[in-house]
Amino acid sequence: MYRNNPHPVHLKDYRPPEFLIDTVDLRFELDADRTRVEAHLALRRNPVATRGDGGLRLDGEQLELEAVAIDDRPLPPAEYRVTPESLTIHRVPDRFTLTTRVTISPSQNTALEGLYQSGDMLCTQCEAEGFRRITYFLDRPDVMARFTTTLIADAERYPVLLANGNPAARRTLDDGRQLTRWVDPFPKPSYLFALIAGDLSAIEDRFTTASGREVVLRIYVEPHNLDKCDHAMRSLKQAMRWDEERYGREYDLDIFMIVAVSHFNMGAMENKGLNVFNDKYVLARSDTATDQDFQGIEGVIAHEYFHNWTGNRITCRDWFQLSLKEGFTVYRDQEFSADMGSRGVKRIADVRLLRAHQFAEDASPMAHPVRPESYIEINNFYTTTVYEKGAELVRMQATLLGPERFRRATDLYFERHDGQAVTTEDFVRCMEAASGCDLGQFRRWYSQAGTPVLEVEGDYDAASATYRLRVRQHTPATPGQPEKAPLHLPLALALLDAEGRELALRLDGEAAAAPAGTRVLELREAEQCFTFVDIAEPPVPSLLRGFSAPVRLRFDYSDAELMFLMAHDGDGFSRWDAAQTLMQRLLLRLVEDPAAVIPESFFAAFAQALDDRTGDPALLAEVLTLPAESYLGDQMAVVDVDGIHRARCALEQAIGVRLRDRLLAVYAAHDDAGAYRLTPEAIGARALKNRALGYLLAAGDAEGLARCIAQFEAARNMTDCISALRLLVDHGGEAGLEALSRFHTRWSGEPLVLDKWFSVQATSPRPDTLARVERLMRNPDFSLRNPNRVRSLIGAFCNANPVRFHAADGSGYRFLADRVLELDPLNPQVAARLMRALVHWRRFDAARQALMRAEIERVLATEALSRDLYEVASRALE
Ligand code: ARG
Ligand code: ZN
Repeated sequence: MYRNNPHPVHLKDYRPPEFLIDTVDLRFELDADRTRVEAHLALRRNPVATRGDGGLRLDGEQLELEAVAIDDRPLPPAEYRVTPESLTIHRVPDRFTLTTRVTISPSQNTALEGLYQSGDMLCTQCEAEGFRRITYFLDRPDVMARFTTTLIADAERYPVLLANGNPAARRTLDDGRQLTRWVDPFPKPSYLFALIAGDLSAIEDRFTTASGREVVLRIYVEPHNLDKCDHAMRSLKQAMRWDEERYGREYDLDIFMIVAVSHFNMGAMENKGLNVFNDKYVLARSDTATDQDFQGIEGVIAHEYFHNWTGNRITCRDWFQLSLKEGFTVYRDQEFSADMGSRGVKRIADVRLLRAHQFAEDASPMAHPVRPESYIEINNFYTTTVYEKGAELVRMQATLLGPERFRRATDLYFERHDGQAVTTEDFVRCMEAASGCDLGQFRRWYSQAGTPVLEVEGDYDAASATYRLRVRQHTPATPGQPEKAPLHLPLALALLDAEGRELALRLDGEAAAAPAGTRVLELREAEQCFTFVDIAEPPVPSLLRGFSAPVRLRFDYSDAELMFLMAHDGDGFSRWDAAQTLMQRLLLRLVEDPAAVIPESFFAAFAQALDDRTGDPALLAEVLTLPAESYLGDQMAVVDVDGIHRARCALEQAIGVRLRDRLLAVYAAHDDAGAYRLTPEAIGARALKNRALGYLLAAGDAEGLARCIAQFEAARNMTDCISALRLLVDHGGEAGLEALSRFHTRWSGEPLVLDKWFSVQATSPRPDTLARVERLMRNPDFSLRNPNRVRSLIGAFCNANPVRFHAADGSGYRFLADRVLELDPLNPQVAARLMRALVHWRRFDAARQALMRAEIERVLATEALSRDLYEVASRALE
């Protein structure tokens, strides 16, 4: 498993598989320490592939081979060869059955890839290449087979035995063990295989599909969590209905199962008919989960369910095509969540994430195209570029096509490619074929990395009553791609008059004006001009509405224009974005000059927003949120860690002091003591009041502190409880320590709630935070073997606490490298992910650069790194 200097895999080397597998019959004798796996594969030569040397090479890692046979004839060792990564049979017929018997050890599997033990249960994670740790196989997504799975296990320890497909048999064997058989009628790649064995309970429901088929729905959890599954079930049923209505996609098996497991590397996994979830994305009760948790569950449940069509029925030809399923499925889950809650707020949250993480990735040595060209370890490419930027690519195509043509194009995609393993090129071809649009240039988005910059200038000419927009685009170089070509993209905009009304727009040369509102311009050139005619007065442009393309927009607005947009723009996203730009400007000015005065007009704009009781409180809470420290750093030539932190604290404090009475009034107006509701209005009200409380505490306001303590004590929902706890820890002195200890006592025995307790402490800007994090690593509730614990303590410190992680003495960097090296032998995926906190080293000052670089070098100098960690660390220095 561990080796230095591993070889990269290249997209250009793709070849169709030499053999295909029609059916797979698996038989597991399950045991935590020693599981036996017998596999019968029906293989045949692929008619379209070129013939190799007559042999067959199967993938397999960490398997103990006991027997191998072809057409029931046992093979002597001379007829095959085993390496740590493969089984090669020197000579095989054109069509045959291969039988192998291996043993594996789930309890020793700390990488959580393949079959592993989580708590008392056994579970699997096969995407991307985990199936090869279960049995010898052609472990690649373009080999699709029909699976039958037989599970045999001790009936007491593992009363519930699940696999993909429909249940086919269940009986007790003579030796008392239990046997269960599952048959999956849909051909699938091995990465979608799953099994579960455990002592689990389930909540059950039913769903009738549009064509009238009855489907059983079950969510399996450990018995004590049965009271935390309702929200997940509700979300599932809503997602199933939505996919029928919006995409015409029905579910296709008799049963759909979700299982929550406590040890999981990622969010969740869309295995056919048997989704396996990180329990964080299933379990929620209003007193244990925040509004954000509830929304996360709704989104991830939908995401995995949507994969049944975008991923499972139609899958990826190879892993370079990962965004084919992930980008499209993220787009689908984003739209679903927008329909379930507040559309504008959802878009803001998605753009915030994209800007904070994907833009930063695109500006780092890890930058890669949505369809990467090469990788050493595919697990390193489950990135915000493949997922979130990939979703933006689908969104732009939906915008360019318009809703009717986009629906026709997705219908065509599902019809044309059902049952196939295809490429992003196949997807774009469907978009073109169904719409008549030419997406030739648009394809560059898939192959070109980097975030384009749009520089826009506007010129008003009173004499001719015209407004001219000049748009220039360029994309900065990224590793391996020094030259960039112009991209085809939709630029949504409106022009506003002095009252904020949208003008009817007519471009020079057009016969008639389009109705007033948003208009989509298509950009294709490095530089383009658009002249609008019949513009009676100088307008204020509202640009990139709804964030119509994943670009950095530059337009030289005056502060007054930004305040105007913040107050009047009809597009919720653009109102928020104007406020962000305004606050960003002010903060960067304060970084340069801590003595800079905050203009009165800024407080006035903030006050006006706070006084607006007619708007959506959720949107208002977003408008009133200062840009994150990391995002501010992204806007600077050299990140000034301490200056940014200081400026941001100073602005928060000034707002808290200057607008104290209004903030207290907003707090009182939205403090809802009634029953907990999960409506967009109630969520918005909680967000807004907690935002107001945050400013008050930043200002050291005594009444604010009293409210905060009262809120912590009275809170019956986790949103209010954790918001108060965070503020008390950061600003409350003794009260913070007291609250932490009470919170821990109250929630001991609820690991997911304790994760919040770890995170609140790890992200505190208090000077003693690193010492506290180190102490918490020895807390019995912490474990390096559980990825959720690692992320909530170590991950939170390194990724969400810039001022402490980037401490000038390098202590944060040293801490990270130590943890990464400790984790790598246990769980390479988690170690490599954590390592990413160092890849942005070139963005910092010389002293920090040297310290970060030294830690990366120390990691690279270590013997026997995993491929995962080696790839991230070596790319970081490129
Ligand atoms: N396909 C899963 C999803 O829904 C992610 C699984 C990734 N797992 C991994 N080990 N890389 O997004
Ligand atoms: Zn996915």
